[in-house]
Amino acid sequence: MDRDERLICDSASLVEGAKGVRFALAAHPGEERGFAVRYLGKVRAFVNRCPHAWTELDWQPGEFFEESGLYLVCSTHGAIFVPDTGFCVAGPCRGASLEPLQVREHGGHVFLVNEKP
Ligand code: FES
Repeated sequence: MDRDERLICDSASLVEGAKGVRFALAAHPGEERGFAVRYLGKVRAFVNRCPHAWTELDWQPGEFFEESGLYLVCSTHGAIFVPDTGFCVAGPCRGASLEPLQVREHGGHVFLVNEKP
């Protein structure tokens, strides 16, 4: 583990198009404000805050994908996001984006990188 990394989860916890992992951010200790999912083989992570009304996206803890497993969906008003960029392609905040978080995967683990306090 590098000095700029913080462990989020095991790689095996993130399956393509399946449930994501929620994790705390240094700026919000004790609250799971970040999330990670696997999409096209890579881990993608974002702040768990919809750019429409600033609610968390998941309708059940860790449920970020819509039925097809191809897009992330906000449970509050149904905004649809592209998982690799967090760009909103449909819904009330179309054209806005989720705030990305930098992650790295190695040695069977997923790490948050260069976290801002
Ligand atoms: S809060 Fe996400 S679409 Fe409205």
